[in-house]
Amino acid sequence: MSHHDERTFVMVKPDGVQRGLIGEIVSRFEERGLKLVGGKFMRIDEALAHDHYGEHEDKPFFDGLVEFITSGPVFAMVWEGADATRQVRAMVGETDPAESAPGTIRGDFGLDLGHNVIHASDHEDEGANEREIDLFFDEDELVDYGLDTAAWVYEDEQH
Ligand code: RTP
Ligand code: MG
Repeated sequence: MSHHDERTFVMVKPDGVQRGLIGEIVSRFEERGLKLVGGKFMRIDEALAHDHYGEHEDKPFFDGLVEFITSGPVFAMVWEGADATRQVRAMVGETDPAESAPGTIRGDFGLDLGHNVIHASDHEDEGANEREIDLFFDEDELVDYGLDTAAWVYEDEQH
C-alpha cells in the first residue's frame, strides 16, 4: 500500500473560486482515483503568501502574484495516491493556460498566465509537496481513512 500514499498540495486560486470551479476541479481528482485527505476553504494572508511563493520573491511578477493570491478565498486541498505530485501537475497543465493542452485544468478553464485557476506542488522541486502541506495544514487536519474504491484503482490493493 505504501507506494499509493504520496501526498500533494493543491489549491483552487481566487479566480477558480469566483468562477465556480471548485466542484469541477475536485471531481477531476476524485474521478482519477486520488484520495482527498484534507480540504480547507480559507483566505491567504500576506505572510502566508510570502511563505508559499517565497521562491519567486525576486521576480518582477511577485508583488502582483501576492496581491492576486490574497484577493479572495481559496480552496486548499491535500490529495493522496500513487505518484500523486507528478500526476496532479500533469492534470493541471503548463503554468501559462495559453500553452496548456485541452483536457488539462488550465487548458480547459484559463486563458491568462496571471489567472491560471489552480496551484499544485511542483514535482520537480524535491519535497515541495510536503513543505506546502505543512504550511497550510496541521497534522490533525489530515484525515486518515481507507477508500473502498482503492482495490478497483490499484491492481495490487486487496478487496
Ligand atoms: P503555481 O506555483 O501557482 O502552481 O504555478 P506554477 O508552478 O505552474 O508556476 P510558477 O513558476 O511557480 O509561478 C507561480 C505563479 O506566478 C505567476 N507567474 N507569472 N508574469 C510571469 O512571467 C509569471 N510567471 C509566473 C503564475 O500565475 C504562476 O502560477
Ligand atoms: Mg509553482
